[in-house]
Amino acid sequence: MEFTADNKKKFDTLLTRYPTKKAAILPTLWLVQGQYGFISDEAMEYVGKLLDLSPVHVLSVVTFYTMFNRKPVGKHHIQVCRTLSCAMMGADSLVDHLKTKLKINEGETTRDGKFSLCTVECLASCGTAPAIMINEAYHENLTPAKLDKILAELA
Ligand code: FES
Repeated sequence: MEFTADNKKKFDTLLTRYPTKKAAILPTLWLVQGQYGFISDEAMEYVGKLLDLSPVHVLSVVTFYTMFNRKPVGKHHIQVCRTLSCAMMGADSLVDHLKTKLKINEGETTRDGKFSLCTVECLASCGTAPAIMINEAYHENLTPAKLDKILAELA
């Protein structure tokens, strides 16, 4: 793998903003995910070489943050917050509803490739729990009925 010319330019700019190459790992991984949709083993090796880090160091960062995908995801990547405020406000029932509605489990993608489902840690929207993200968009104060409406619009 290799960055596109545009992403290589963005990467070079990123390096000027951080005191060390190592410090640029999160935005570099974000560029990779933006380009491929997920971060493969090959991509982690590439990032390691770019930033003078071992692949296992890169892996430790990728697996720590739930925002990084280790495998391809669907067109609409649904991330349900499972942390305290959302858990208390019904996140589990949203997950159950999504599993039933989409006929997939957490970590899976629908057969048509439209939806992927996963749970994540706090999305920093605790005051409007339960919250989810679909790709880059927040959806807050959710109920199963509101979720159905959103899914219908995306289908
Ligand atoms: S606990 Fe869900 S957004 Fe913070």
